[in-house]
Amino acid sequence: MKQLNNLGGSLRTLAAEYNTKIVGFYLGPYATVVIDDPKLIKKGLYNEDFDGRLDIIVARMRSYWKTLGDIINVSTCWNLLKRYPASWGGSSGYVGFLTTKTASVANLAVKGLSRYDRSYTPFGIPSAPSHSVLCGIPVCFTVITSGLRFTANSKQVLTKTTMSGIFFTDGYFWHVQRRFTLRYMRDYGFGRREESLEAVVASETKEMIDMARNGPKYPAENELVKGDLICLQHFFDVPFMNGMVHIFARTTFPRSEYKVLFDLARATLLFQRGTNDFGGALTITPWLKDVLPGYSGYSNLKKGNQALLNFFDKIIKHALATHDKTYDRHFLDVYIKKWKEEETTVKKTTFSEHQLQLVCTDYMFPAATGVQSVLTFLLERILLQPEIQDKIHEEIDRVVGRDRLPTLDDRRNMPYTEACIREIMRYEPLVPLGVPHRAMKASKFGGYDIPEVKYYSYDDNF
Ligand code: HEM
Repeated sequence: MKQLNNLGGSLRTLAAEYNTKIVGFYLGPYATVVIDDPKLIKKGLYNEDFDGRLDIIVARMRSYWKTLGDIINVSTCWNLLKRYPASWGGSSGYVGFLTTKTASVANLAVKGLSRYDRSYTPFGIPSAPSHSVLCGIPVCFTVITSGLRFTANSKQVLTKTTMSGIFFTDGYFWHVQRRFTLRYMRDYGFGRREESLEAVVASETKEMIDMARNGPKYPAENELVKGDLICLQHFFDVPFMNGMVHIFARTTFPRSEYKVLFDLARATLLFQRGTNDFGGALTITPWLKDVLPGYSGYSNLKKGNQALLNFFDKIIKHALATHDKTYDRHFLDVYIKKWKEEETTVKKTTFSEHQLQLVCTDYMFPAATGVQSVLTFLLERILLQPEIQDKIHEEIDRVVGRDRLPTLDDRRNMPYTEACIREIMRYEPLVPLGVPHRAMKASKFGGYDIPEVKYYSYDDNF
């Protein structure tokens, strides 16, 4: 690799060397294809055959160490459980569970598991329709009883539920959750114009300007504004993050509590910096997490992830405690209602409290980091090229003036400013390689045969 610490750059160099727009190579055990052509990238992203995701350490850790749904055999299952003692299992201590129609297999599993993990005695769940064995703390029971219940024959044991959230899920689970969240978050302002959301963003922007003009008001702001010095990117945090909180829960954090948001944004950034588009070295050498947890980025991933989960746990618990199914106050209510309905009617649902936590995490994640990074890069660029800064100023003064905040109505009259924002995203792409996709079906692409990849297992890398 020619450009250390620049994965995108090094792959582009490789593509140039082979004079191709499609590079195929093995990244550890992963047969990988990288596309470097705008038209082909678009074609690839619209191709449903490539809508799969990978079972990588970042995804597992985020999802309490659950894995993409699949049926595997008993011995693999035991090996898995042996490898993931509770202390490794993220905050919930998730270890794993298995269900089987055959009581003897369940009994064998209990015995086998007891050998491996003495701190958490595995136990059977006789009341479950099939014989379920659970090892770990009761969060797994929630998973089972929340409808993700499967059966398998005596040789097969299902240890796996789908991973959670949007980013790292695929197939039916992803389709349902993605469609539902986009559809109903829209009712509360996501992806469209909505008066109350615009009012929140405007009011938080005013606070931001006040902070810059008049200095800090609360201790947490001392770290962001020091005289003429302003700490980017966190200075931009609040309008976007409170905007998301408003969509989820129709509430916002007042200025006296901004620290909660600043801390969350810092933790989210820790997560982001602990990895890269491919999941970092941890993807192909996951054992680094035990040998070099700090250097490999694992500690930061864990810390950042936990902060996001804790943040939403509180908000969701409150929404659950005050939930009234006859009245939807916000997106969380709509989600909870659907989850409870499916739980009682169809018995098998992709909705759960844990999934809701990860949905919120996935939509908050870019709002707590990405947008601020884009704006920070733009400011850096216009400091280096003041002639661009002058033109942006001229447009703002002409269209908006100095007496009011801009609104979305001004957007169509500000083509230069918009072009600059778009150009900085092209010039400094935040996710240069995109999020990796898994080929779910064998297909032809750009003249090459792309094989189906049934299941990339994180375990294969141990
Ligand atoms: C700041 C600029 C942003 C950039 C550069 C960016 C980039 C990306 C990229 C490259 C993907 C992967 C797409 C794929 O290959 O499947 C993605 C997915 C996603 N982004 Fe963004 N994003 C940005 C802002 C946002 C914002 C503001 C939100 C939400 C508030 C958001 C929410 C998501 C979600 C939920 C996904 C997962 C989609 C899925 O897997 O179905 N992004 N983003």
